[in-house]
Amino acid sequence: MVILKLILFSVLVNFVFTIQGADVTCSGTACTTSGNCPQVPTTPSGLAWQNGASTGKCAINNCPTNTSSGLVGASDLFCLSCQGTTSSSVKAVYSNTQMTGCVAASATCGSSRTKNTWSDSDCLACNGSSLQYAKSDQSGCAATQKSNILLFSSLILLCLLLI
Ligand SMILES: *[C@@H]1O[C@H](CO)[C@@H](O)[C@H](O)[C@H]1NC(C)=O
Ligand SMILES: *[C@@H]1O[C@H](CO)[C@@H](O)[C@H](O)[C@H]1NC(C)=O
Repeated sequence: MVILKLILFSVLVNFVFTIQGADVTCSGTACTTSGNCPQVPTTPSGLAWQNGASTGKCAINNCPTNTSSGLVGASDLFCLSCQGTTSSSVKAVYSNTQMTGCVAASATCGSSRTKNTWSDSDCLACNGSSLQYAKSDQSGCAATQKSNILLFSSLILLCLLLI
């Protein structure tokens, strides 16, 4: 009975006090002033920036239960506040290229990413299976696997055959 009461109580608490996102740093400390934090996703509705738990920080008012997909207009800062599903112990704190979900990439999927740092796993996380392979110079993503590995292994095979 006590356990049941505790469960009911925590369910109730979750309903009444919605889960605020993690604190992030916006460009200004007036979190609700437009332009200081990036636009919130338009889907799901009801999202807003508010003051974070620490002074000067901002947080999303109420994180959707799962931000891995189904969003419209997600930004990196939104994903840092309401992270998606961790994958291979990489936290999902960046928005994918389509801005529809928070993904476990090693750095931003956006144009501010350091040049030539794309890996296969980041391409898959950021751009999905249609562009899941890093180009051989790591400058971006491609639909097919980088050919130098194939070339290399076929050369080895050729050598073995010739011996
Ligand atoms: C969130 O949704 C994705 C699919 O979109 C799923 O793979 C993942 O397990 C879900 N995470 C949680 C915590 O439910
Ligand atoms: C991801 O795909 C989009 C088009 O869907 C493209 O504009 C963008 O450059 C791709 N990103 C990378 C890193 O290749």
